[in-house]
Amino acid sequence: MATRRRRAPQPSVRRVPARGVATVTKRTQTDDAAAVGPRLRVLVLSGPNLDRLGRREPSIYGTDTLEDIHRRLESEGKALGAVVDCRQSNHEGDLIDWIGQAADGAADGILINPGALTHTSYALYDALRAAQRPTIEVHLSNPDAREEFRRRSRVAPACLGRVAGFGAGSYLLALRGLTEHLRNLSQTRPLVRGER
Ligand code: DQA
Repeated sequence: MATRRRRAPQPSVRRVPARGVATVTKRTQTDDAAAVGPRLRVLVLSGPNLDRLGRREPSIYGTDTLEDIHRRLESEGKALGAVVDCRQSNHEGDLIDWIGQAADGAADGILINPGALTHTSYALYDALRAAQRPTIEVHLSNPDAREEFRRRSRVAPACLGRVAGFGAGSYLLALRGLTEHLRNLSQTRPLVRGER
């Protein structure tokens, strides 16, 4: 019995009136990612009280929920060629454990909004420093323009940089900055997979 040959998938073709046929390859997020190189893995951590975004002091932190922000990060990550793993905890130890996993090879870079732990936690500073992964400190508000105690960041010396004051946009700007930094790094040496 003759088997029917399956037609190979065709590129999308758009007919342009009076000018013949123009082939149009639809640009997808996957194409964009392929254009920028190998997949990067970015760990995004948010600390205490950030699970309450949307309901927590919206005049300071905005009305986006953390789930909204995570969704936007995942979709922006796809366009940038990055797999984004977003986590939140109200417990310092969870954040430290996740940073340890990144250090053991689970991530190429880290975005962290430590919430109020920013201003108090030497343990987070130690974990980030030991992890030796490029890390960006992220804040929705601008802590420097607020109460005195927020002007001190314990984690800043372990970070590559900081994005603050742009609301939910701070996370997205930080993701762009971090992926660009990681891409530049990967041109000079391969990104570490597994134990450093
Ligand atoms: C924050 C700023 C911190 O001072 C505060 O304790 C937070 C949120 C921010 O994203 O603006 O919990 O990290």
